[in-house]
Amino acid sequence: MTETALPVTLDRSAAEPLAVQLAEALRAAAADGRLRSGDRLPSTRALAERLGVSRTVTAAAYEQLHAEGWIAGRHGSGTYVTTTPPGSLKGRPRRVSAPEPAVDVIDFAPGAPWAEGLDRAAWRRAWRAAADSLPLFRPQRGGLPEYREVVAEHLLRHRGLAVRGGLREESVLATGGTTAALVELASAVLRPGDVVAVEEPGYQRAVGALRSARIKVVQAPVDSEGLLVEGVPEGVRGVYCSPAHQYPMGGRMSAGRRVALVERARREGWLVIEDDYDGELRYDVAPLPLLAALAPDVVVHLGTTSKILTPTLGAGWMVAPEPIAAEVLAHRDRTGTSPSAAGQRVLVELARTGDLGRHLRKLRRELSERRALVASTLASAGVEVLGDDAGAHVVVLLGDAAEERELLVAAEARGLRLDGLARHHAGRPKVFGVAIGYGACSREQLVDALPVLVELLRPS
Ligand SMILES: Cc1ncc(COP(=O)(O)O)c(C=O)c1O
Repeated sequence: MTETALPVTLDRSAAEPLAVQLAEALRAAAADGRLRSGDRLPSTRALAERLGVSRTVTAAAYEQLHAEGWIAGRHGSGTYVTTTPPGSLKGRPRRVSAPEPAVDVIDFAPGAPWAEGLDRAAWRRAWRAAADSLPLFRPQRGGLPEYREVVAEHLLRHRGLAVRGGLREESVLATGGTTAALVELASAVLRPGDVVAVEEPGYQRAVGALRSARIKVVQAPVDSEGLLVEGVPEGVRGVYCSPAHQYPMGGRMSAGRRVALVERARREGWLVIEDDYDGELRYDVAPLPLLAALAPDVVVHLGTTSKILTPTLGAGWMVAPEPIAAEVLAHRDRTGTSPSAAGQRVLVELARTGDLGRHLRKLRRELSERRALVASTLASAGVEVLGDDAGAHVVVLLGDAAEERELLVAAEARGLRLDGLARHHAGRPKVFGVAIGYGACSREQLVDALPVLVELLRPS
């Protein structure tokens, strides 16, 4: 349907307000197939001119259809029909036989960073400065010294971890990111057949990384306070957890549990792997002490730039007890591997210029506002939102697998890609619902999506 062919006539003598008539006419056109998913609507101004009504009339009608989820505005590119009312097109042949994809599906899966928020000039500057240094003639297995310095400073400033205090500086290694570091730990430190407990639901790439090295993965339950320490089975060699912001459920491990975990780890000889994937993103209270600060002798701490900058930088870090760090370095030497220097140099430059600090402040401000917007909108519609005031996603629980599947399909049809909780299980799924990542989209997309989310998630 072209914009000019929009099928609308209004009755000025009717009691029904013109905006209501207009919304009804557009709904009816969508229901009988004259308007289809993906059709572009005229601007409120153009339509008002064409119909000879004031712009408030067209704006009110669009607002209503928007709130109902039939149309979506795309910043700078107009308003589109996103879906058609139920029962529409009954018995009518459609233009194409395959189902039409929804307009521009927006990805609300958790985990992607706010790449749009990066200051492009700062980013370019950092890459240019990074390229100025001469290529090294030999790989630095542990990472560039200046990168390890920057990481130590970052950990001190943003995570309260004094690497140079209790730990030797050599224990800070560059990595290619958290998952890459897990793959290394699994083959350099753990042995095939070792058993590692992983949070359930939890980060399935951690499970994949461990299993790829023939490590046996068992599940450890979580609740709103993170990993249940007494739920870790006996006889494990290691425990993987995300205490700052349990992935995907979003809880923070309480201080009591942190102490209980490291005490049990010491008693039973566990290696604790602390995945601090988005630890910099906390908006309410000060962070609790890292597990690595409580027990540097048994904890390997993993950090990444994937959430604060981009996973394409391939730059992360590991803070490990010295013997573990030595094993990782020996493994790198044996296998001729080391994390790429390019991403490390870029982070060094961003830190040196102060651009990293500025970006982090901006990122925290933006994400905390987005979180408040999502949480308050859903809460005011009676939707219970789980997860701490942190990170870049929230969780809403659903009753069972079928409900979760249906919701994901319905959301996709309305142009929103959400993430189901079922896939975050290594064993049989027990917790169902959706994780809604609000970091990667634009603010406009988020605002547009909120009424649709409310409609999809509101308890009936
Ligand atoms: C729980 C968790 N850990 C770690 C990562 C990041 O890993 P990487 O540094 O390998 O990109 C993610 C990203 O999605 C994550 O969700």
